Amino acid sequence: MCGIVGYVGERDAKPILLNCLKRLEYRGYDSCGIAIVGGRLKAFKNKGRVNELEKTLPEVKGKIGIGHTRWATHGEPSEENAHPHTDCEGKIAVVHNGIITNFLDLRERLSRKGHKFRSETDTEVIPHLVEDNLKGSLLEAVEEALSQMKGSYAFAVIMEGHEGIICARKESPLIIGIGDGEFFLSSDIPGVLGYSDRVLILEDNDLAVIDKNGIRIFNRGREVARKIEKIQWTLEEAEKGGFEHFMLKEIYEEPRMLSILLGEKVSFTEPSIEMEIRNRDFSEVLLTGCGTSYHASLIGKFYFEAMGIPARVELASELGSSGFIPKNSLVVAVTQSGETMDTLRALKKAKERGLRTLAITNVVESSITRIADEVLYIRAGPEICVAATKSFLAQLLCLYLLSLYFGEPHPSQLEALLDDLARLPSRMEEILEEAEIKEISRLISRYESMFFVGRGINFPTALEGALKMKEISYIHAEGCPAGELKHGPLALLTEKTPVVGVLSHDGTYESSLSNLKEIKARKSPLIVVCPDDEIEAEKCSDQVIKVPQINPYLFPFTASVALQLLAYHVAHERGCEIDYPRNLAKSVTVE
Ligand code: G6P
Repeated sequence: MCGIVGYVGERDAKPILLNCLKRLEYRGYDSCGIAIVGGRLKAFKNKGRVNELEKTLPEVKGKIGIGHTRWATHGEPSEENAHPHTDCEGKIAVVHNGIITNFLDLRERLSRKGHKFRSETDTEVIPHLVEDNLKGSLLEAVEEALSQMKGSYAFAVIMEGHEGIICARKESPLIIGIGDGEFFLSSDIPGVLGYSDRVLILEDNDLAVIDKNGIRIFNRGREVARKIEKIQWTLEEAEKGGFEHFMLKEIYEEPRMLSILLGEKVSFTEPSIEMEIRNRDFSEVLLTGCGTSYHASLIGKFYFEAMGIPARVELASELGSSGFIPKNSLVVAVTQSGETMDTLRALKKAKERGLRTLAITNVVESSITRIADEVLYIRAGPEICVAATKSFLAQLLCLYLLSLYFGEPHPSQLEALLDDLARLPSRMEEILEEAEIKEISRLISRYESMFFVGRGINFPTALEGALKMKEISYIHAEGCPAGELKHGPLALLTEKTPVVGVLSHDGTYESSLSNLKEIKARKSPLIVVCPDDEIEAEKCSDQVIKVPQINPYLFPFTASVALQLLAYHVAHERGCEIDYPRNLAKSVTVE
């Protein structure tokens, strides 16, 4: 949801800004731009990706600059609406992530005073507001502008004649990478990898003044100090490493990632779960999240219930309007980025109601970690492809381990469950080798609409399979509980509507199999993802994707690897831009 970058130092800003922007493109790629101060202020922008901008740029000298890659909210993707936005004189440039909610009022007021607006964006009011208040220093003008702005923002301002960057954040992330006599501003850690391994994370209402002498941070007028964190991620982790796409690389990383996570959170000799969550005195778990994290939460519900712990799941965007949450609930927010606005708002609401909160996230020191009482890190490493893959499996593992931690099964039961888990990474590796997934993808890639079905724990697995397929291949893909097909969706099934069924040897096996037969009777091409010892599915389907037999609670792991690969190869076959699907962004920081 928009990435912003900045540079202050002794090197040429242009290549650094472009490089950092390319690493933030997962946050949005509708348009992009940079502005550099080198004597005069110069701004360049275009519709589309950073490498297109790069091709059109002239030689620009200057050691101070800002940049932006956009996910459009106010105003269509176009060159006019691309950031940076400038004031009337073209001497002040601003990049912004977030939404200025009172921009219409501000725009009207500024227009009446003679300010000329060129775009439809909310952001453009910021440079004009700063210009309007420029009576003394740039810092004073930005402070005055901030006092008039409502909404959420992470923004950065540069001005001709001013030797640095001024930036501020409220409800949108912003970090400063600290180099040797140079500073790198970024929305997120991947933007500074390779330039700096120490970052300062700004907090809400912080205003930072960066120049070559250092950083000064103010919060509501008072100067404050912020901790410097060491980055754990490496540049290699955020690069493709020989893979054609980040998505494929991230799928291939899954087995190793789960092994590392297991090594960190499980003692197989004891056996025990190595976690330290203080909040253990609750009667119900309420899981919440968006997109893939919501699907992980739906699967997590089965884990808690299997341990005798009542669990509910709410979409984070709906939690605010849902009625009753028992006082004695533990609210668990699941979010890869830790920045999804709907999830942040849901957790804040839960806290305001006096509920205990836990965040399950990938990004250290992300915004959610500042709201939740406690945090469980999924340690998936940087995930660059917009479609979540490895973070989904890491979330599932953390939810599974958390349910065992809270549920405290008998030591012999725990030992058996952990034995299954220990085998999981190598079982997943076997799926990566499966050649028939590619074959089946060729078949699916010819269709425009399809369904994914499952029952019980395989229903959310099917939902996630459908989400992966639609977001990267643009095939209309709908996840449906297998038992619900006959109550409506069956009307849509024809020989032109393939169905992917997810089937495992759990309590839903018999009824799921009948549903698959109903589908076949309607002549839909039927593909079934099932354990490798399954025989019946083969008889009623056109194709099977066999995944290694495993405890049914762990089946979503193995089935999901197969479904992720299926979506990847279908999208590849259709020539889609896999890592950066149209209209989407990895981290959605608006409601
Ligand atoms: C966006 C992404 C999805 C992601 C969702 C939630 O919609 O495109 O891939 O699942 O946000 O993100 P989070 O960071 O909260 O898990």
